[in-house]
Amino acid sequence: GTSTLLAPSILSADFTELRSSIALAEKAGADWMHCDVMDGVFVPNISFGPFIVQAVAACTDTIIDTHLMITDPDRFIADFIKAGSHQITVHQEACPHLHRTVQYIKSLGAKAGVSINPATPVSVLESILPDLDLVLLMSVNPGFGGQKFIPSSLEKIAKLHAMRQEMNPDMVIAVDGGITEENAEAVVKAGADSLIAGTAFFKAADPVATAAKIKAFAR
Ligand code: DX5
Ligand code: ZN
Repeated sequence: GTSTLLAPSILSADFTELRSSIALAEKAGADWMHCDVMDGVFVPNISFGPFIVQAVAACTDTIIDTHLMITDPDRFIADFIKAGSHQITVHQEACPHLHRTVQYIKSLGAKAGVSINPATPVSVLESILPDLDLVLLMSVNPGFGGQKFIPSSLEKIAKLHAMRQEMNPDMVIAVDGGITEENAEAVVKAGADSLIAGTAFFKAADPVATAAKIKAFAR
């Protein structure tokens, strides 16, 4: 198959050296820059908003992949697209009118993604799947970088992969949380196309070598 997409999560980057961190990610072959937005309500942590996403976008030509871990994301979707996001992912758990939210993202010209937490079954995506550009499957509970991959995520990836083959073969499956050089192959084999890596990339002794290994795994 084709090579795996790599999306470094800038949450684990050195923010005093944001431009050079992004340059390193680019040099390592990053396909997307993953921007983790946290509001202290939907998740127990606060990260950053459109202002930082705009700074990231100004430093790179790669795809800006924005992961909104926020309550009522509709309020801020336009701001994050103006800031340079090419892809906006919202949480199923935060969107009572998910279909409306997905159509809204698309109407503003961005790709639309939906994320689900570890306790949310992939079956909740059945009705919306044909409308999605990507699903971001959480393999940790969102809120923090550096957590351990939850092993039962592998079954969810495989189920989602089977669902998309039937309903929306062009949809991208991204997996987020606790990805390492050690588990990346199993994650890709289960059906993932894109791997989000915060700690494993930015805290690696040799981030370029780590990225090359992760990207080399293919289905
Ligand atoms: C978790 C974030 C993840 C996180 C990944 O709330 O959505 O994107 O930054 O970091 P690692 O790879 O360290 O688990
Ligand atoms: Zn994320």
